[in-house]
Amino acid sequence: SLGLDTSIIGREIVHFLSIGSTNDKAKELANNGCREGLIVVAEEQTGGRGRLGRQWVSPQYRGIWMSVVLRPDIQPMEAQKLTLLSALAVSNAIEECTGLKVDIKWPNDLVVSGKKICGILTEMSAEVDKVNHVVIGIGINANMSAEDIPDELKDKATSLAIELGYNVDRKNLFRYISRNIDELYTCFINANQWHDLMVEYREKCINVGRRAVISKGDVSWEGMVTDIDDDGALIVLDGHGEKKRIISGDVSIRGV
Ligand code: BTN
Repeated sequence: SLGLDTSIIGREIVHFLSIGSTNDKAKELANNGCREGLIVVAEEQTGGRGRLGRQWVSPQYRGIWMSVVLRPDIQPMEAQKLTLLSALAVSNAIEECTGLKVDIKWPNDLVVSGKKICGILTEMSAEVDKVNHVVIGIGINANMSAEDIPDELKDKATSLAIELGYNVDRKNLFRYISRNIDELYTCFINANQWHDLMVEYREKCINVGRRAVISKGDVSWEGMVTDIDDDGALIVLDGHGEKKRIISGDVSIRGV
């Protein structure tokens, strides 16, 4: 047993040596009525998925590939908050475990020394005004060596082991992540603590106060990121001095 000592997250854990995608398995279990807090974790993914239809390289024993099932009583619009919550919880967990400084690139990329070490894929099943379940998929490049990182990503991605010079204890990191998500999810449910959590998110987010290129499909524009509101939307001043409110959806952003 992992002795998690959490109230919701990880009260049930399903472990696989190899699987297509932990998000797909978590969605399947959620559709079959599993309790919230269930974690699917795998040593390897053969069909790991990233945002925007990208693939997510997930070699055996080298990373943390996990998905958490949540059943919050919220409107579909609010689900984005869970993505931000997860990014903050995981960044804190990695900092506590390794001592590395982990920044957040809005909405949910975790970055060490300017390179990505973790991505989060949030998938939701909802009706018009009610969420059935949300799956939070977390991929951490923990003990990947330089050779495990695809050539075309070498200047954009890194791993904890590459940054630290030694391998991390993945079980320990998994424990910290589960506990941190449990703690912040409790804040989310008790709404009154949400504002403080967003203050912390803003402090860790590298985009605030910087220029960025916002892309959706073929359309790109540049602006100045001025803030992130309490709903997790990015506030960007465009070239005409107009304030735009960006929700994560299919948007990708790049600092300039
Ligand atoms: C991204 O940055 O594009 C998101 C990457 C998310 C990867 C994780 S690994 C565990 C879970 N299962 C998947 O297939 N994807 C997520």
